[in-house]
Amino acid sequence: MKVSVLGYGTVGVGVCSMLEAAEGMELRKVLVRPGKADKPFKVCSIEEICADEETEAVVEVMGGVEPAFSFLSAALRAGKHAVTSNKALVAAKGPELAKLAKENGVGFLFSAACGGAVPFLHNLALAVESDRILSVGGILNGTTNFMLDSMQRRGMDYGEALKEAQALGYAEADPTADVSGLDALRKIMLACAVAYNKLPCEGFSLEGIESVTAADVRHFQSKGLVLRLLVSGGMSEDGRICAYVQPCLLDSSSPEASVLKNFNMAKYRGENSGDIILIGQGAGRYPTASAVLRDLSDLTHGRREMMKDSCERVAADNSFCTCRYYVRLGAGSADALPFAEKERDGELVRGVTERVPVSEMHARVKALRESGEEVFFAAMEG
Ligand code: HSE
Repeated sequence: MKVSVLGYGTVGVGVCSMLEAAEGMELRKVLVRPGKADKPFKVCSIEEICADEETEAVVEVMGGVEPAFSFLSAALRAGKHAVTSNKALVAAKGPELAKLAKENGVGFLFSAACGGAVPFLHNLALAVESDRILSVGGILNGTTNFMLDSMQRRGMDYGEALKEAQALGYAEADPTADVSGLDALRKIMLACAVAYNKLPCEGFSLEGIESVTAADVRHFQSKGLVLRLLVSGGMSEDGRICAYVQPCLLDSSSPEASVLKNFNMAKYRGENSGDIILIGQGAGRYPTASAVLRDLSDLTHGRREMMKDSCERVAADNSFCTCRYYVRLGAGSADALPFAEKERDGELVRGVTERVPVSEMHARVKALRESGEEVFFAAMEG
């Protein structure tokens, strides 16, 4: 397959070198920034790539919604297959790109956008054809997993752990997307679109790791618990989609607790297959490039879609999912939450709530924070 690449950053360089080495693949052109076309195969205009009759597929690894959306749309209209690693783009414009691909009789695949090298969406798209998917989720952000692991096993504080994750190149350019849970949320949006043909685009419950302190870590470690940032998606019997991100406290024997450093753990539960768990590198040049090459290989085997052109946007509804929550907050606000058990820790209270709908818990904490209260909360899983 003859391929042109849009973008020559970390992932773009990896894709180009893998294309040069892969049997049956050929690198045609690479779109670079104006003034950066220092080799004959580098070009600065998308029109040149669209007009190149030899190019069969275009890989987009630029990041961001625009101009990536306009460029990939142009490539699809020109009859090129499209592959992207860009989760922000697919979360924002996936249905439009899926429609354009269908109208032009070409493929649109994006498994590198969710889980890096972990073949999550690839397997999910196959599983959907033969099983009913009951839930999707797992650990889908390497930066926060690295930070939580470093805080728990290496005794680092939050700031040190974030700095190291940035230095190692795991974090987004603006790491707020990682620590707030937004990056993981975008990935679960894509997984829901693949699993349920519905792209949740509002109504999320989103809690990252920004509120966890070294004292919190010491406290739940003393109880034998491990903290991870988990994403969850699913569909109720009556077709409502849940999609949320929140820290979870797990037993140290749980599969999630064994996921260390910047690794991802993607999980889906099929009605017949039961739990399928995939662990691997969720980010980085070659892990992500390997997923792009996997999509290109799928195209050569005739696989054309992960998201159907009929995929509809919906609001998430997190009221039908319930959890018990570990909470730390000021002792004066303890009555605002339905604690089943609690203990005093100086000026603070730490405890575990009754089972509460996910959307309700997130809303209650939001209200407490708006009134000036500092709160840490995490679902109790397992
Ligand atoms: N910042 C992301 C992460 C990169 O840490 O998982 C891969 O999407």
